[in-house]
Amino acid sequence: NDDRHVVAVADPTELAKAAAERLLARIAANSGRVAICLTGGSSPKQLYQLLATDAYRSRIPWQRVHWFIGDERFVPADDPLNNMGMARATFLDRCAPATNIHPIPTATADPADPDRCAALYEQELRSFYGADTLDPAHPLFDLVLMGVGPDGHTASLFPGDPALDATARWVVGVPKANVEPFVPRVTLTLPTLASCREMLFEVAGGAKRAILTRLFAGENLPANRARSTGETIWLVDRDALPEDFG
Ligand code: 6PG
Repeated sequence: NDDRHVVAVADPTELAKAAAERLLARIAANSGRVAICLTGGSSPKQLYQLLATDAYRSRIPWQRVHWFIGDERFVPADDPLNNMGMARATFLDRCAPATNIHPIPTATADPADPDRCAALYEQELRSFYGADTLDPAHPLFDLVLMGVGPDGHTASLFPGDPALDATARWVVGVPKANVEPFVPRVTLTLPTLASCREMLFEVAGGAKRAILTRLFAGENLPANRARSTGETIWLVDRDALPEDFG
């Protein structure tokens, strides 16, 4: 797939640096209000730590950058498995104005009705965007961060789940997760995630090589269906890179 650009890096430290530089470049390219969609899991943690260091922190115009999250689990706000909670604890709470942090409110919502929580976040995204229809000429996000699970899922879009085919909705509830933690989720849909100038996957470690091999062979898996209307970049470290690649 030639609309996906793979960038190979040495290791997780280099990967975090490369991701941080791309994030700064996206902010610099927009002189107005910037929207960044973060992700959970372990992959972006080093990037988040880097953004909190003086060297990077001083280069970010925090007042005009807004932070969203691509998916969330129904766990308490301070649970280490809470995706936005992890981002907040790692960098946002120390760096960003509280009004610029936009969590999916799973912590205060009913896990038996994840769609209701999804509708609240959809409303928040629509009012931030200022329209009910996503215009390809005006992407919702400047940057969307993504990760890949061992089953090829991305965000909380699991193989075979109806959420994958949602087109009218911006955000949907996912009653059943395919991987741990086995709690209901809320996820942005593919068209919403696609509405960005850049979609940036971070993939590191030998445990990711098997799924990357399948993805790069073109298998129909959620992570292969996640494409930006702008650029789609996969940052991959040496240990995760399939053997026959490049
Ligand atoms: C989630 C994440 C998910 C993640 C992958 C990779 O909420 O579970 O958004 O899509 O990116 O599962 O997870 P790791 O980074 O922990 O490998």
